[in-house]
Amino acid sequence: MKIPDDVRKDIPLTIEVIYFDNTATSLTPKPVIEAMDDYYLRYRANVHRGVHRLSQMATHKYEESRKIVADFINAEFGEIVFTKNTSESLNLVALGLENLFRPGDKIVTTPYEHHSDLLPWQRLARRKGLKLEFIEGDNEGNLDLSDAERKIKDAKLVAVQHVSNVLGVVHEVEELGKMAKEEGAIFVVDAAQSAGHMEVDVRKLHVDFLAFSGHKGPMGPTGIGVLYLNSGFFDVFEPPLIGGGTIEDVSPDGYRLTEPPERFEAGTPNIGGAIGLAAGIRYIQRIGLKGIERQERKLVKRTVEGLDELEIPWYGPGNLKKHAGVVSFNIPPLHPHDVAAVLDDHGIMVRSGHHCALPVMKKLGINGTVRASFHVYNSLEEVEAFLGVLEELVRNLR
Ligand SMILES: Cc1ncc(COP(=O)(O)O)c(C=O)c1O
Repeated sequence: MKIPDDVRKDIPLTIEVIYFDNTATSLTPKPVIEAMDDYYLRYRANVHRGVHRLSQMATHKYEESRKIVADFINAEFGEIVFTKNTSESLNLVALGLENLFRPGDKIVTTPYEHHSDLLPWQRLARRKGLKLEFIEGDNEGNLDLSDAERKIKDAKLVAVQHVSNVLGVVHEVEELGKMAKEEGAIFVVDAAQSAGHMEVDVRKLHVDFLAFSGHKGPMGPTGIGVLYLNSGFFDVFEPPLIGGGTIEDVSPDGYRLTEPPERFEAGTPNIGGAIGLAAGIRYIQRIGLKGIERQERKLVKRTVEGLDELEIPWYGPGNLKKHAGVVSFNIPPLHPHDVAAVLDDHGIMVRSGHHCALPVMKKLGINGTVRASFHVYNSLEEVEAFLGVLEELVRNLR
């Protein structure tokens, strides 16, 4: 597929607006909508519950979607649990591992986490009397790997984001995973901003648990997420939710749970969502992850160059090799929301605010940022139009 033109043809909204809010959620290409329509119009039924043909077909497509997700991140079929989103996946990890922790155990994370990869650990630490420590890092988002090594030494669990949704920094998850495994710590990765934008391989990254959302990088619908759970944890991970679909046998005295992944998916799942997610992944695979990454890097490079030319301060790693498709900036004395409103007046959608990462804002000593975030369907022409609006804004200000 020709990048970005062929992708843009599949997404009518790209003609109407400049959509630079891909970190929040991405636009949906037609093949994803068609796959979901197909389910709702042709074989709408529940899964794992009926012998009739519609249920058989829905079950087949739902499980085929699981296989597509598994292959996408190099996991085994049974290691993929469908959830609502990244936030739910990470909460499930913290709840399901709770019984493994003893007072005084240590969880290590980073200062750059999204609230969804911080609050579950803060709550777990409070409930179980654990220590929560943060790897040192600078204001660009670069982690101090020697400090990481020191802190991970006696950790029970290490939870890190792959890519920051504020700074765009790509963290050294493979190295951190190696450190965690050498110390026998559980390694959890928040891949909300990497899956669908770059290769995510759970074996290469030494991951025990990994979470991502269907509606971001993979261009799927909202309401579907993924929890990867390494098969080594099947017997020690307590399913936080149980009930319909999770059992092998039940009597008035008790129950015996069934095998994973069903053990971890209580109740009717988001069937259409899983099918849409798989269609999104197939679509991404047709474009090619390398091409997606290359396009986003090109857009970041031009964006930060343009911001530098306009003397607009931006945040994130100066080393562009470590900078994924997210650029945060500010135009003082304007409030980030005011900048976003001006851009909206010109048909350009960006996010403004604290981006669910208040500790990052506190570290940088700011209240918020304006954030432009890209996907493969964004073009250099769009970046130029965006820089043009900022140039006018800055000219009027100074
Ligand atoms: C790094 C990161 N983690 C977690 C999340 C939460 O994702 P969701 O809202 O889909 O649960 C986000 C959302 O922006 C994110 O950027």
